[in-house]
Amino acid sequence: MKLGMSKQNNMRNKIVAGNWKMNLGISDSIELVQKIIFDKHKDSQRVIIAPPLTNLYRLGQLLDLNNSKIELAAQNFYFPKAGPFTGEVSAEMLLEIGVNIVIIGHSERRTYFFEDDQVLFRKAQSALAHGLEIIYCIGETLAERKAETHLDKVKSQLDDLMIKIDKKHWASNSIILAYEPVWAIGTGVTASKQQAQEMHYFIRKLLKETIGSKISQNISILYGGSIKSSNALEIFEQPDVDGGLVGGASLDASSFNSIIESARKTDKR
Ligand code: PGA
Repeated sequence: MKLGMSKQNNMRNKIVAGNWKMNLGISDSIELVQKIIFDKHKDSQRVIIAPPLTNLYRLGQLLDLNNSKIELAAQNFYFPKAGPFTGEVSAEMLLEIGVNIVIIGHSERRTYFFEDDQVLFRKAQSALAHGLEIIYCIGETLAERKAETHLDKVKSQLDDLMIKIDKKHWASNSIILAYEPVWAIGTGVTASKQQAQEMHYFIRKLLKETIGSKISQNISILYGGSIKSSNALEIFEQPDVDGGLVGGASLDASSFNSIIESARKTDKR
């Protein structure tokens, strides 16, 4: 496939989201959050952090107290309203503590917790119906990349979302997509800027064909997989890359701040 490029669009601001996974207790979380340098009053990009569930409430209070514009996301939730689901939390419970964003479909949830496209679709549907914003992750394995089926794989992961989710949720920008090739997550191997751009362009083209041109231009598509301070800039410079979902490097304040700085430099407004 020829490397495509969508028209530069000034509506999409950069987003940097830190996925802390199962790392950092309360005191380490507080220490890290206090070192993140981000002043939304000066900058138009967004900074989101997704700490472990047990830290969300406390961090929310701290961010409010400091008038911080850093936003909180949950790494997971379960779609029923309430009931006998040991170990799970609902969308309403997240909203009650001021968490308005949730990550859905991360490859670690798919692999270790056997969440398939059907479950993930139900999660997306429920989260959006409750008014949560979602960061929906998709991406191919190394075997699929080698077999050159990566585009088909990503399309299949997006099909239900594009076809069955009420268009109003796309139109209101409640859906952020995150392309995370499984072979790049936590491995130190990053997709090249060309590989990232090719996939992001492909996704935007799918959105355009399935949902419409205007929406496709407004939807943010993040790249994730071994983003670090040394490669963030060249990836964020790609015209269809709207920021990053950062794992390991989001646990270190200076790396995360440098990645935020790369987003600032490449922000389109
Ligand atoms: P990584 O993780 O940056 O450590 O590769 C990214 C992710 O899993 O979201």
